[in-house]
Amino acid sequence: MKVLLINGSPRQHGCTYTALGEAADALERNGIETEILWVGRDVPGCTACGGCRKLGKCVIDDDVNRVIEKLDTYDGFIFGTPVYYGGPSGQILSFMNRLFYAASAKMAGKPVSAVVSCRRGGASAAYQQMNMHFMMTNMVVITSQYWNQVHGNTPDEIRQDAEGLQTMRTLAENMRFILHSIEAGKQAGVKPLTYEPKTFTNFIR
Ligand SMILES: Cc1cc2nc3c(=O)[nH]c(=O)nc-3n(C[C@H](O)[C@H](O)[C@H](O)COP(=O)(O)O)c2cc1C
Repeated sequence: MKVLLINGSPRQHGCTYTALGEAADALERNGIETEILWVGRDVPGCTACGGCRKLGKCVIDDDVNRVIEKLDTYDGFIFGTPVYYGGPSGQILSFMNRLFYAASAKMAGKPVSAVVSCRRGGASAAYQQMNMHFMMTNMVVITSQYWNQVHGNTPDEIRQDAEGLQTMRTLAENMRFILHSIEAGKQAGVKPLTYEPKTFTNFIR
């Protein structure tokens, strides 16, 4: 069982990384493998070319495709971002837009969560924006005892945010529970998810 944690901050080992690390450590303590991927620099945005519809991956061949190639090996995901002007970083949004547009079918049914780090404000808006990707992808959104946010400007300040770090550990515990429940369901023969072919209406026809 493996969870991929994606750090969308340009600061590789900053606050977002520290928060993700707290969740990763808690997962590892429960025997769940983790991988932290840093995507905080030079992430081009979606060009809306539609090439992924034919390729099953993005026409821009970078870390998005490296994740798509390994999607079957990941059982859960946690996407992390610093808060920039009350929203997620441009890097994580570019990454998520391209990943979800190209490979949402492979992410359906898997547990997922967002983590945001801010000095002071805007965490809720950034958190809500991140969750928009998950909630139209048939994913299982994992929550915690509070919204998944930590507060600080440096990793040291994050380490002083006792409630924020506990929120990360609780998130990991909830993810562990759902991962094990999904596995138990498979063993018990629960019918896998099957969906109707998608209907697209652009509201006028
Ligand atoms: C361009 C920019 C915009 C920011 N906007 C906000 C903000 O809206 N609210 C806030 O509390 N902190 C803001 N910050 C501070 C970061 O969100 C905060 O320091 C965060 O914990 C950094 O995480 P990191 O070390 O993983 O990059 C901003 C920082 C930068 C560089």
